[in-house]
Amino acid sequence: MPGSFDRTGALSARVTSSQSARFDAASGATQPTVVARPDVPIVCVQGLGYVGAAVAIAVASARQVGGTPAYNVVAVDLPNEQGICRASALNDGRFPFATTDENLAEKMREVHAAGNLIACTDPAAFGTADVVIVDVPLDVRLMDEEPSLDMDVFQSAIRSIGRHMRSDAVVIVETTVPPGATSHVVAPILREELSRRGLPIGQFRLAHCYERIMPGKKYFDSIVNMPRVYAGIDAASAEACETFLRTIINVERCPLVRLSSTTASELAKVLENSFRAVTIAMMDEWGSFAEQVGVDLIEVVECIRSRPTHSSMRTPGFGVGGYCLTKDPLMGKLAAREIFGFEHSFPFAERAIEINRRMPHRVLERMKSLLHGNLKGRRILLLGVSYRQDVGDTRHSPSETFYEAAVREGAVVLPHDPLVEFWREQSIRVTSVVPQAAGLDAVLLAVAHDVYRTFDFERWLGSSRPLFFDGFDVLTASQRSRLKALGCRVESIGRG
Ligand SMILES: NC(=O)c1ccc[n+]([C@@H]2O[C@H](COP(=O)([O-])OP(=O)(O)OC[C@H]3O[C@@H](n4cnc5c(N)ncnc54)[C@H](O)[C@@H]3O)[C@@H](O)[C@H]2O)c1
Repeated sequence: MPGSFDRTGALSARVTSSQSARFDAASGATQPTVVARPDVPIVCVQGLGYVGAAVAIAVASARQVGGTPAYNVVAVDLPNEQGICRASALNDGRFPFATTDENLAEKMREVHAAGNLIACTDPAAFGTADVVIVDVPLDVRLMDEEPSLDMDVFQSAIRSIGRHMRSDAVVIVETTVPPGATSHVVAPILREELSRRGLPIGQFRLAHCYERIMPGKKYFDSIVNMPRVYAGIDAASAEACETFLRTIINVERCPLVRLSSTTASELAKVLENSFRAVTIAMMDEWGSFAEQVGVDLIEVVECIRSRPTHSSMRTPGFGVGGYCLTKDPLMGKLAAREIFGFEHSFPFAERAIEINRRMPHRVLERMKSLLHGNLKGRRILLLGVSYRQDVGDTRHSPSETFYEAAVREGAVVLPHDPLVEFWREQSIRVTSVVPQAAGLDAVLLAVAHDVYRTFDFERWLGSSRPLFFDGFDVLTASQRSRLKALGCRVESIGRG
């Protein structure tokens, strides 16, 4: 069998990445070659998305006292086109996503050279692991009238671990899950699969430890230099999780906080993100009020931030996107209903999701009225399609909401993004060269990518004088006044 695992050496098997992974055309799977060598433990990272791919590099970057790698890392994704693509990128020494973090790119090169990270699409890899880290999605169905948990992918991922794992492995769930999931969903699946295999069910250790990762310029740092919260399903699990985290996280600077139950740790994550979503939503009503009464709210917020208790106050913006803030605030309500079996209402969280989703529509309406009430045939340059500055992730981006609504109204929208070549959700290519200004009616600065902050709009304009709409305070005060002096109308979210 090509690329098989030596399960007998599972405890201390060493991954030889000199041959790296190879693609097996028959099964459509990428499989690593592993040989036993009593050297360092194996850590499997399940899910090579924005979190898992970076976590795999962070774990592979951990060093022992003498400077040699602390772990062999096997990163595992699904044997589908996307999974194979992501695994192959890592095996070639390329991070699978566009990144502006030089440090992450450097760590990728280092671990590739050290040869202690390989990627595959064969779940049998879990059988070699001392530690398995779960970084797969757990979705919320948002399309229906009432949101509901979509746990199929997550449960099947946990099952695939249970089918192959050693009975004494440490499993750490990093996926954002509804409170209660680790003990009520993950643990029963692992026990069921182990007992199906005739293995003891009381030896594995299981913990929840959520990621606070921020793809962007500090991507790598946001894993290893970030305080961590974790909990185990029992004391031995919490202990095992802490021991592992101590080898990855810079605990001198970033203390680890142990909570008393995995439900508490899961709740901490969704509350963190709910807090963020709610505070952003709250600024929307003040932003639109300020715009109408001629107040510069961004200036006002800066003053308020000088008060220590209010230093993290948000400014209003074009919208909220990404995979997390658009679903996590609903996890409390859904956990109550679908895991614990009672109803509990979270009006702030639900309202925040609704308001945040509507923000790009507000921008569209304002733009429409500034363009004489009709967008038909209007040419709009959309600067930024990702959900956040300096990342290439387009999931649930506010630009998508705007794009679809504007196109429905007959506008011609030209999307640009320095980090997105192909806009998957819209199935269109995105240019990385800013199109000519001639013939444009409006320019929407939808994402605060660095390149927009330094772009010379005045030179680019030529004789065109489109409306500028700044969605995220990208333009400086002097840029705004220079554009106005040239005869462009300049509008900004939150600035009256
Ligand atoms: N993206 C972020 O910035 C961020 C930050 C903090 C937490 N999170 C949370 O981390 C989790 C992962 O998010 P993401 O953005 O990396 O998701 P993602 O969709 O980018 O990646 C998930 C990966 O898991 C893979 N996968 C699914 N089932 C699998 C299986 N059975 N075996 C192996 N691989 C499997 C998918 O193919 C995909 O490559 C989510 O719970 C998310 O809410 C994300």
